Amino acid sequence: MKLVVGNQKAYLLREEVIEFIEKTKSKYCKDAVICPSLPYLELYKDSKYILGSQNVSVSESGNTTGETSARQLKSCGISYSIVAHSERRAGQLENASMFLAKIKELLNNDITPIYCVGEGRSEKSEGVTKDFVGKEIMEVFDNMKKEDIERVIVAYEPIWAISGGDMPSITPTNDEISDVVSYIKDLIKDKYDANIPVLYGGSVNKNNIVSLNEIEVVDGYLIGGASTKPDEFLFIMENCLK
Ligand code: PGA
Repeated sequence: MKLVVGNQKAYLLREEVIEFIEKTKSKYCKDAVICPSLPYLELYKDSKYILGSQNVSVSESGNTTGETSARQLKSCGISYSIVAHSERRAGQLENASMFLAKIKELLNNDITPIYCVGEGRSEKSEGVTKDFVGKEIMEVFDNMKKEDIERVIVAYEPIWAISGGDMPSITPTNDEISDVVSYIKDLIKDKYDANIPVLYGGSVNKNNIVSLNEIEVVDGYLIGGASTKPDEFLFIMENCLK
C-alpha cells in the first residue's frame, strides 16, 4: 500500500469541497490524507479522511496574525503537515531555518511533517539535481536528531513537474523518479543512519498512476490538481490503497 496525500491548495470553493467529499466517499478514505484549505476543515469532520495541513506557523502560539500553530492544528485533528512546498519556498520566501522551526513545532505536537524538496528547470538542465536536492535535505536534517528525522516523511517534487505553473509541466520518467528517490533514501541512511518514507509529487493523475506504482522505491504520492477532481482521486486511491 502506498501513502496517498492530497494537497488541495487554494483550488476549491466551499460547494466544490462538499461535492468532492460526497463523490469520493469510499472504503479508501480512511487510509488517504487530505490537506484542504483550513476554512474547510470542518466540512471534512464527518468524512473518513485523515487530515493534513498545507502549512504551519514557525511559532508556538500567540501574536502571529494569519498563521496557524501546530498546537492549533493538532486540536483540530490534523495528523500530517506539508512543509517547504516549492510554492512556499519561492512564493512566500521561506527558508531552511523556518522549515526546521516548523518541523520541530509539528513533532512537538505529534504531527508528521512532509518535507518537500525538488529541483527547478535550471538545476535539471544543468544536471545538478542530486546536489540541489541533497542540499535541501542536509540544510534541515543536519540540525536534527536521528529519532526526529525518522518521524519525518520526504516528498520529492521536481518543480518542473508540478502542474499549474507558468509553463506546461512535464512528468519525469519512472527511471528519473527512481534514481532521485533512491539517492535521497541512501543519503539519509548514510548520513543520519535513518530510514524514512519518500513520496513522489508532480502531475500525478489517473493516467500515470498505474505506471508510477511500478516504482518500488517510492512510498506514496503528494497529489495536487488531481486531488480536487473526485473521479481522478477515487481512481488513484483505488490503485494505491488496495
Ligand atoms: P500537482 O501538484 O499534482 O498539481 O502537480 C503537486 C504538488 O504541488 O504538491
